[in-house]
Amino acid sequence: MSNTNMTEHTHFDALGGSMRDFRYLPGSDLLGRVEAFYGWQQARRSAGVWPLGRSTEMGAFSRAVARTDDGALFRGVNFASQDYLSMNAHPAILDTAIQAMRDYGVHSAGSPALVGNTSLSIALERKIGDFLGYDHVALFPTGWAAGFGVIKGLVRASDHIVMDALSHACLQEGAQAATRNIHLFRHNQVEQLRAKLANIRAKDTSNGILVVTESLFSMDSDVPDIRAMQQAAHEYGATLMVDVAHDLGNLGPTGRGMIEVQGMLGQVDVVMGSFSKTFASNGGFVAARGRAVKEYMRYYSSPNTFSNALSPAQAAIAGKAFDIIQSDEGAQLRAKLMDNILTLRKLLAGCGLETYGEPSAIVCVKMGSEALARLVSRRLPALGMLANLVEFPAVPKGQARFRLQVMANHTQHDIVDAVHRLSTAVAEAGKDLDALDQGHATLATLDQHRPLPQASHMDEAAVSDTLPIEQEPLRAAS
Ligand SMILES: Cc1ncc(COP(=O)(O)O)c(C=O)c1O
Repeated sequence: MSNTNMTEHTHFDALGGSMRDFRYLPGSDLLGRVEAFYGWQQARRSAGVWPLGRSTEMGAFSRAVARTDDGALFRGVNFASQDYLSMNAHPAILDTAIQAMRDYGVHSAGSPALVGNTSLSIALERKIGDFLGYDHVALFPTGWAAGFGVIKGLVRASDHIVMDALSHACLQEGAQAATRNIHLFRHNQVEQLRAKLANIRAKDTSNGILVVTESLFSMDSDVPDIRAMQQAAHEYGATLMVDVAHDLGNLGPTGRGMIEVQGMLGQVDVVMGSFSKTFASNGGFVAARGRAVKEYMRYYSSPNTFSNALSPAQAAIAGKAFDIIQSDEGAQLRAKLMDNILTLRKLLAGCGLETYGEPSAIVCVKMGSEALARLVSRRLPALGMLANLVEFPAVPKGQARFRLQVMANHTQHDIVDAVHRLSTAVAEAGKDLDALDQGHATLATLDQHRPLPQASHMDEAAVSDTLPIEQEPLRAAS
């Protein structure tokens, strides 16, 4: 960044503002106008309050070595991984991936509409169908593509979409691409959904209505009444689609998620999911009853038609993950995960930290103001913790939070560490904010007043000495 940008930005820029401010940029210079966002981002980066865009050096395990997007290395207990059942280095998953690469090569080399599927992806489709109670499943290259693609594929401009106001970006963007007739209902409010459906049907009986929700919301960890929504949809001649990205595999007595918990297996019109959380892979799927839906997806849902199919290794890994999830080991992993979740929520509450929603692998800790949350994020690496700060656009402005994601392989020690480190960071950040508010410091001078601990910062040479324990099977298998 230029020095001009550095000096232009005060600590109010770095602690204030939001990505919302840069969504609609003025001016005709498409490339030039994005500098405004970059300037704000750099002000945050130089103040140490840009906690996004990080990478891990040796995998996303429960203890990880990470690098900020500025290049600084740090080590910490990792609560920023979506590998909920800790399958990342599971020996059977690794063996399966390696075997798939040996047998099939690494490339799918075509879209599912042409010759991109392999016997591995065909087997995966059947496995998902059997698991969820549907005859037909279409695979997509990512969960995002599945969410976007199922909506854009099924809904035409004259149809209607009635969706939960907090639906994931892939669903919202799919809806926007499909029609202008989008009706949002208040989060999880079945009565409002019903009212919207009645209203639409009173005026329009000739077009389709797709109702869209998630079985477990990824920022609030709360759950809709799926049965009531399905009933409402059918009453008004609408179709329900539920995104099960975050709970499938890791919640419910047999891992079939909240749809199972609510006794709705096989009864939801369309189910869409992702492999990127519990299934140690990339990819997504859409499950429906009739083959016609799958065939239509394949040729009228662009991410299915005009994008390469899952690679053989991705399909094989997801397939093996489904096997593990249905085994005794899967049940044990889910039990361990739930144990960890409950312990984490209890210890956080004991420190006065409020969490959202219901027990799930997503444990969001309330911050509220972006300023406080960013100051907390500034302290966490030094304290030795990775956790994602969530702000707009993922949540509304003024409702910033830390999203801790729990894994089955987290130990009780990891959880105690995480709570201790997060609560220390919150207390310290509160004092930082007071010092800034009272004019005793600026962000540039804050460290002179209130130094960041340095203990867990590390240099390049130290990284190779720091192997997370879970990585051992990875080395053994390779
Ligand atoms: C609810 C929900 N749906 C879909 C997706 C997209 O999944 P993927 O990461 O496989 O693209 C996500 C991931 O962020 C999600 O949280």
